[in-house]
Amino acid sequence: MNFQQEIIKLLVKETKLKKAELENLISVPPDPKLGDYAFPCFKLGKNPKEAAEMLKKKLKLPKFLSGVQVVGPYLNFYVKNEVITEETLSKITKNKEDYGKQDIGKKQKVVFDFSSPNIAKPFGIGHLRSTVIGSCLYKVHNFLGYKSVGVNHLGDWGTQFGKLIVAFNKWGKEKELEKDPIKYLLKLYVKFHEEADKDDTLNDEAREAFKQLEEGNEKYLSLWESFKELSLKEFKKIYQVLEIEFDSYHGEAFYNDKMEKVINNLKKKKLTELSQGALIVDLEKYKMPPILLEKSNGATTYHTRDLAAANYRLKQYKPIKLVYVVGSEQKLHFRQLFKVLELSGEDVSKFTHVDFGLFRFPEGKMSTRKGKVIFLEEVLDKAIKLTEKIIEKKNPNLKNKKEVAIQIGVGAIIFADLSNDRTRNIDFDWDRMLSFEGETGPYVQYTHARACSILRKAEKSFTKVNYSLLNNEEELAVIRLLYDFPAAIEKAAKDYKPHHIANHLITLSQAFNEFYHKCPVISERDEQMKARLLLVDSVRQVLENGLGLLGIKAPDEM
Ligand code: ARG
Repeated sequence: MNFQQEIIKLLVKETKLKKAELENLISVPPDPKLGDYAFPCFKLGKNPKEAAEMLKKKLKLPKFLSGVQVVGPYLNFYVKNEVITEETLSKITKNKEDYGKQDIGKKQKVVFDFSSPNIAKPFGIGHLRSTVIGSCLYKVHNFLGYKSVGVNHLGDWGTQFGKLIVAFNKWGKEKELEKDPIKYLLKLYVKFHEEADKDDTLNDEAREAFKQLEEGNEKYLSLWESFKELSLKEFKKIYQVLEIEFDSYHGEAFYNDKMEKVINNLKKKKLTELSQGALIVDLEKYKMPPILLEKSNGATTYHTRDLAAANYRLKQYKPIKLVYVVGSEQKLHFRQLFKVLELSGEDVSKFTHVDFGLFRFPEGKMSTRKGKVIFLEEVLDKAIKLTEKIIEKKNPNLKNKKEVAIQIGVGAIIFADLSNDRTRNIDFDWDRMLSFEGETGPYVQYTHARACSILRKAEKSFTKVNYSLLNNEEELAVIRLLYDFPAAIEKAAKDYKPHHIANHLITLSQAFNEFYHKCPVISERDEQMKARLLLVDSVRQVLENGLGLLGIKAPDEM
């Protein structure tokens, strides 16, 4: 039963306000003492307090409400505790890992463009953020009944390949490349820039090489192919650790033969013009710089490939939404892209740039050109090693220590990312992030493991529970948070913001630990113990479901 909807039905009858209007007006009061739902009566007459009183007298209380109260201009609704408790706990028991699932999406498709690292370059921290945020939104949408499509728009085309081809032909060694491809390609890339600073003709050579690559030069293509294959092999190691999969790896190169049509279409619509030999779409009217479709030498650009990709995805998947999970530094790129799509007649309300801020490491900022890079594998390794040390101190007898250390270390990084509003910059702090206390992944995982441990010790089944025994403040606070879990998921999807889920899990963990601190479970009389065990098990389930949506494992012991 959705209490809010039931209250809305009641108010539609009594107030003549529309359902949609009521949905916007009704809220959940911050303090539970003020009831479970509050309805502001401003729209019912000049004197809202009087109107609230009148409404209170008129209402026939349905069974699930224990009462209504006028507080200022508000009419506050109190749902019977045992109704919320029974509703929520029986639903979690029944649905288990599916608790929180809904069918809002009706199988409609949503395309997520996420991760999208660049071939022959290290997997950056920005790409990690895109991967983690994108994968969470992908899962959340599937959970809500949409059909998510995950596209890894690999950066496998562009002038940098001209540079690499020139560098490899001049200085490259096959054997070195195979040994550690990304580091070696980075070395070549850095050398290219050092040399090009001294001798600008190298840049011309690189432009020419890329042009020939676009025109299908076979020798260059096979070199490019091997760069791509070797890089992908490295990236897939990271995806394996994070347990992330994609439905498509169509990168920029895939659109090579699909750009001409896009350009011709824009030409037909008279949207293009020549500027110093280059083909552009002027966007001055919209207070943006032009987008470059074709350079003066005929080479295409990142923008052209994104236009082709957008057209392809619209046709191929017929999605209701196309979401790009890409850092804030590309805001302008996407505003320009969406504007050109709009001008060419597409429904741009379908397109969203889900942007995010920087993840700043104490190790410093990256610059690929100078070779100053943080390697993501090293970050993941460090998180795992530090966690192993913590486990060694806290729980040296733990079984499968290595596996748990991976789950906690990796989970800590993911949680540090997803628990902040994605638009903010985050300063990476190893100690804080890995701490078992505070608003961290390990804290939520630890709470889950604690619930598991209580259940293990109790060794008792808890069917036919008397719900009305769960009625003290701490218990009711936990139950309310369990009840609100599906709403947090919905909010995360609506705003494309995973932190709504992460924060809900933190609040739930805190409420649970408060409960556990105040209310004995195992030492209780039989009936009370059964009821509390059911509550513990429900918390365990919801933490597991929530962590799962974030892409984090929930170990039973740690
Ligand atoms: N490869 C790009 C980069 O690393 C990100 C691509 C994002 N997706 C897109 N459709 N433009 O900056």
